[in-house]
Amino acid sequence: MIDNNHIDKVYGNLVNGEWVLSKSNQTFDIISPVDRSLVGKIQLISKNEIDNIIANSKEAQKSWKDTPVSERAKILSKAADILEDNIEFLSKILEVEIAKDTDSAISEIRRTADFIRFTANEGMHIQGETIGADNFPGYKKNKISFVTRVPLGIVLAISPFNYPINLSASKIAPALMAGNSVILKPPTQGSISALYLAQVFHIAGLPKGVLNTVTGKGSEIGDYLISHPDINFINFTGSTNVGKHIAKIAEMVPMMMELGGKDAAIVLADADLKMTAKNIVAGAYSYSGQRCTAVKRVLVVNEIADELVKMIKSEINQLKVGNPANGIQITPLINIEAADFVQELIDDAIAKGAKLITGNIREGNLIYPTLLDHITTDMRIAWEEPFGPVLPIIRVNDIEEAILIANKSEYGLQSSVFTQNINNAFMIASKLEVGTVQINNKTERGPDHFPFLGVKSSGMGTQGIRYSIEAMSRPKAIVLNFDI
Ligand code: NAP
Ligand code: G3P
Repeated sequence: MIDNNHIDKVYGNLVNGEWVLSKSNQTFDIISPVDRSLVGKIQLISKNEIDNIIANSKEAQKSWKDTPVSERAKILSKAADILEDNIEFLSKILEVEIAKDTDSAISEIRRTADFIRFTANEGMHIQGETIGADNFPGYKKNKISFVTRVPLGIVLAISPFNYPINLSASKIAPALMAGNSVILKPPTQGSISALYLAQVFHIAGLPKGVLNTVTGKGSEIGDYLISHPDINFINFTGSTNVGKHIAKIAEMVPMMMELGGKDAAIVLADADLKMTAKNIVAGAYSYSGQRCTAVKRVLVVNEIADELVKMIKSEINQLKVGNPANGIQITPLINIEAADFVQELIDDAIAKGAKLITGNIREGNLIYPTLLDHITTDMRIAWEEPFGPVLPIIRVNDIEEAILIANKSEYGLQSSVFTQNINNAFMIASKLEVGTVQINNKTERGPDHFPFLGVKSSGMGTQGIRYSIEAMSRPKAIVLNFDI
């Protein structure tokens, strides 16, 4: 069992290999979205403490970058094993801290262990190259560039509430394999889960200071962290609003951003409707729709719309609603404000003439799975990301209209196309302005070594294990000049 790093529910930050409380004596209560109980208290650290942590990370990176890659990989592999050994304990933390349903919580941790192991392995295969000069016009054989990959320095990892373990690890592990030190700023709601992840790396043997954590409100310490001159890379996952704000103030610091989405499932007349409905419901409602890659709108051609809606409704009726427990899929949203926002979008659509097929039942921050048909483009839910269990159906006349509406979104994360006509699938895929198109599957990120990226307001840069290691390192060229 991993050690608890807290006393009486007070959690410190991991700084230079020790769990430390803030000298500010200021803490923040993490309240469970499930039952309003106190999960724990986290530190609200001061700017002065941030300066010290960054200085410590800078110092620690000096020896970490010289640690053999095979040793880095050993530590990561051990972390993966520890994570897996503690799957039950950690999934309970996710359940209580972010109301993640049991199956999704277990899957988040197992997937994270697999991610870290795969990253350790992939990191051992990142290699440089030598480039001769004489294939460039005017040059002879008397020059060779030796290109290796070197780390960037300190990576600031900022993760969102919906995957506090996975989306922290997916930044930390590749950054470490590339030889960087990491400062993790976890989501406030999700901090405790993320601090346990830091504990896993710590007991796996990561040297002091190579991974430090800073807890506190993004709105209070975020700007200071981002604009600190010793941060060399920002790896951010979260909302588009915060992402755009960070991009504005970070100036020339390189960054990678995974932001919001409005993933469309396009359904053509020849689709296998049973399979399509199952995929759409799994894609739209898992973890109550709080996934960037959730299916967030359906664009279906008129001739099969009635049948598809009937099938989706029947799949939704099988979803179990309640507090996290075995077999429950729809759990309370992260907070009451999030539920209010989802409700606003539902109310707006109904007021403008949408047809409620099922749902629109609410108990506090728990919203029952809701399906809205006959959504039109004047309704907010046609365009905005609800991050909750509500799915709008937009009926279209033909493929062209589906592509037009799909591309009109400010977002461009993923899209699905459901059809048995592979030519149409590829034709549509080639026209969609998104990072990834799934043919006959729900939108989803995994497997995690695939490239994962958003275009337009959905992000910048490419995640995916090898892509992430490359993004958090850079080529270093040493040119040998000699006489021939
Ligand atoms: P969020 O409110 O944007 O917060 C994300 C992180 O940013 C949190 O750690 C937050 O800290 C921090 N933050 C807030 N203000 C900051 C600032 N000024 N400077 C630096 N950091 C700051 O997002 P969320 O509600 O946690 O997550 C939901 C959103 O993330 C959705 O839009 C979803 O689509 C998106 N998301 C995208 C992907 C993807 O891969 N594309 C994956 C997952 C989620 P606090 O918690 O302390 O505010
Ligand atoms: O929203 C987080 C993102 O990483 C999604 O992953 O597997 O739920 O599609 P997944």
